[in-house]
Amino acid sequence: MQAPPFLAACRREPAPYTPVWLMRQAGRYMPEYRAVRAKLGFLELCKRPDAAAEVTVTAVDVLGVDAAIIFADILLVLEPLGARIEFAAGDGPVIHNPVATAADVDRLTPVAPGALDYVAESIRLARAALRVPLIGFAGAPFTLASYLIEGGGSRSFLRTKRFMSADPGAWDALMTRLGDAVRDYVNLQIAAGAEAVQLFDSWVGALSPADYRRFVLPHMRRLIAGITPGIPVIHFGTDTAGLLECQRAAGGDVIGVDWRIDLDVAWARVGHDVAVQGNLDPAALFAPLPELRRRVETILGQAAGRPGHVFNLGHGILPETPVAHAKALVEMVHELSSR
Ligand code: CP3
Repeated sequence: MQAPPFLAACRREPAPYTPVWLMRQAGRYMPEYRAVRAKLGFLELCKRPDAAAEVTVTAVDVLGVDAAIIFADILLVLEPLGARIEFAAGDGPVIHNPVATAADVDRLTPVAPGALDYVAESIRLARAALRVPLIGFAGAPFTLASYLIEGGGSRSFLRTKRFMSADPGAWDALMTRLGDAVRDYVNLQIAAGAEAVQLFDSWVGALSPADYRRFVLPHMRRLIAGITPGIPVIHFGTDTAGLLECQRAAGGDVIGVDWRIDLDVAWARVGHDVAVQGNLDPAALFAPLPELRRRVETILGQAAGRPGHVFNLGHGILPETPVAHAKALVEMVHELSSR
């Protein structure tokens, strides 16, 4: 039997067309999602497997993408570690008890068995309703540590950088705790039916290559080595043009690439013996369709028909995106890459 195009591309096997999915494809830009969110708070939605599975599957049905991603959030794993998380409307996530000291790291609790079973249940329900592969996901340790330490989003990551340089021992302890929790969480998702997993190191591009090698790479390598074998791992970050070789060295079957670098340049740098995912600027979905089409052609031209390209945005779809353009993008990728 022919592998689904998405899984074939993750394994760098030929596919009849380039598979495409969109990060944050189930989100506020979509009226069906907003209708569900009118009734349920964000965390509530994440913790209601029937509703989470429904929004996961609806996004695939609306867009015609080649993969689903389970509806959840990278911050969910922090709750059973002891973080008090709130998704405040408009302001992004807040952590009310941020980690500031080595003692705070010691106080993090081990994830209780069953604490994240609601995500496993969402995966089982979504799998039963889907005809395309289902991606599980987790935050990578650096990005999770940055939320824990900053107490929310950040521009400069100053507290995080100060923490790592002031107390490298506490930093390594924190990254080890997060790496273990993420490994177990990802393996739980795989056991429940996730057919690939994406590690979101969304904010790691804030680091210098030297800091990445010292403070992140060993932890990523250990995490990825602990993931159930045979399941493709997508290693994603943004603003990583300076870090691609380091990320490649850390591991993953597919390296995520954002739009700040040409896809062909990025692929040559990570090596053609690994797959790549990307890399349309999410803002391109606001362009007139002929312009969007030219941009899709450019990216497909840079991938040059080589097996191992998963088409995606370089980062999550923006809330104001016209749904018709997201649908048109998926059709364009399929049509223009058909071989
Ligand atoms: O891709 C998907 O469709 C699956 C669902 C998904 C969500 N978050 C749902 C969500 C995924 C894969 C994530 C990952 C995530 N969460 C990341 C990594 C991806 C990235 O963008 O780099 C990060 C950094 C987070 C943390 C997070 N969660 C933030 C910063 C926010 C607020 C941002 C915003 O746009 O308000 C969230 C909330 C969130 N997670 C929403 C969704 C659909 C919006 C919440 C809402 O419905 O009000």
